[in-house]
Amino acid sequence: MAIIEDIDIQRKEEFSISETTHQAIHQLLSRNFSGYPKNQTYFKQLPNFRYLVWHQNQLIGHMAVEHRLMNNDDQIIRTFGIADLCVDLDYQHQKIGTFLLQKVEELGRNNFIDFLVLVAKDQQLYLQNGFQTVDNYCRWLWIHQQKTFGVIHRYLNHSLMVKSLQKKEWRSGSLDFLGYIF
Ligand SMILES: CC(C)(COP(=O)(O)OP(=O)(O)OC[C@H]1O[C@@H](n2cnc3c(N)ncnc32)[C@H](O)[C@@H]1OP(=O)(O)O)[C@@H](O)C(=O)NCCC(=O)NCCS
Repeated sequence: MAIIEDIDIQRKEEFSISETTHQAIHQLLSRNFSGYPKNQTYFKQLPNFRYLVWHQNQLIGHMAVEHRLMNNDDQIIRTFGIADLCVDLDYQHQKIGTFLLQKVEELGRNNFIDFLVLVAKDQQLYLQNGFQTVDNYCRWLWIHQQKTFGVIHRYLNHSLMVKSLQKKEWRSGSLDFLGYIF
């Protein structure tokens, strides 16, 4: 049986996630992202909701989602920001990552979300799933170790990616995250 038929995918609001599950999320994130903040399940701030992938009571996949208004060159857009997408090493290359992206895309399309937005150095998975790389001059809230330091303005070195879900077109001018970067 393909693994995709044998997994359980949950969408959980952040406030409803138990301490035990947070521990499992932290362990998965720490294994996949070197230097992940100690005892945390977020880099900068809590997301709005997460997708959790379970196989036989083991957490094997994760994706955090931030529901955010952004200002794209004076066009106000409703976005889902994707963060901390990861799949346990033993389960990679079986389309679980792709399935998670499809889930959030379907949710966004059905709920008038204009764009999926993410930042990624390795873009392979996202290009395969219809994202495009964009190069906007960006502005975001600078948060470091749970303190606000100010506002950063800069380009993101070809790592900003978006996918349009409705009729709006992405503009090439500025992008104001209207908050922290995920
Ligand atoms: C990226 C990741 C979530 C993909 O999960 P997955 O279930 O293996 O994804 P899929 O099977 O749907 O697709 C696999 C494709 O993703 C691409 N890919 C592999 N590693 C990747 C990475 N780190 N970032 C982006 N794309 C990646 C490859 O093109 C791969 O194709 P292949 O199977 O033909 O080699 C998984 O490799 C992972 O957890 N990596 C470590 C954490 C990470 O780098 N996350 C991305 C943060 S932006």
